[in-house]
Amino acid sequence: MGQGAVNLQLPAGALILLIGPSGSGKSTFAARHFLPSEVLSSDAMRGMVADDPNDQTATEAAFELLHAALALRLARGRLTVVDATNVERWARERLLAVARRHGRPASAIVLDLPLEVCLERNAARRDRQVPAAAVRRQQAAMRASVGGLEGEGFELIWRFSSAEAVSGATVERTVGKA
Ligand code: CTP
Ligand code: MG
Repeated sequence: MGQGAVNLQLPAGALILLIGPSGSGKSTFAARHFLPSEVLSSDAMRGMVADDPNDQTATEAAFELLHAALALRLARGRLTVVDATNVERWARERLLAVARRHGRPASAIVLDLPLEVCLERNAARRDRQVPAAAVRRQQAAMRASVGGLEGEGFELIWRFSSAEAVSGATVERTVGKA
């Protein structure tokens, strides 16, 4: 079976983290596989507090809002996807703490694509572009820490290393108590 056949079986009521540098396709993946209301994105939250999804000065407020929305959703047993780079362990730890507080499982979807793919996509973007150095830094942070995801507390971890593997993936929700 090739990588294209990966079927992600997501636990009911879970926290799902998308992990990957800018340009790795997190928002594209989220839009393809999840309801808009299931996805909490740091950009959308920046937009909500500052009328500008690129306003980096709004990052702290944006994450405060994201964590609050996440807690309210997980309390209700709603599967929730966090669309942020999540490449740093400390950022993931804060999200995992919310899931733990509500007794919800956490899973990770890692978009570990070649750097060139992220840089090319980023350069072609019309919405916003992140400096190449930032993309490199994010990828390095991700690769340095991703081996420890299981130890951090993620139950299921999927790691994709090519655009083809990502586009072939399907998502399924497993039945369970919420
Ligand atoms: N893209 C693409 N083909 C894919 C996935 C993404 O051409 N299979 C393009 C998107 O259309 C977008 C760019 O690559 O213009 C970045 O994808 P996006 O999903 O926005 O990446 P993110 O990981 O969400 O980036 P960021 O962290 O900056 O939000
Ligand atoms: Mg995005």
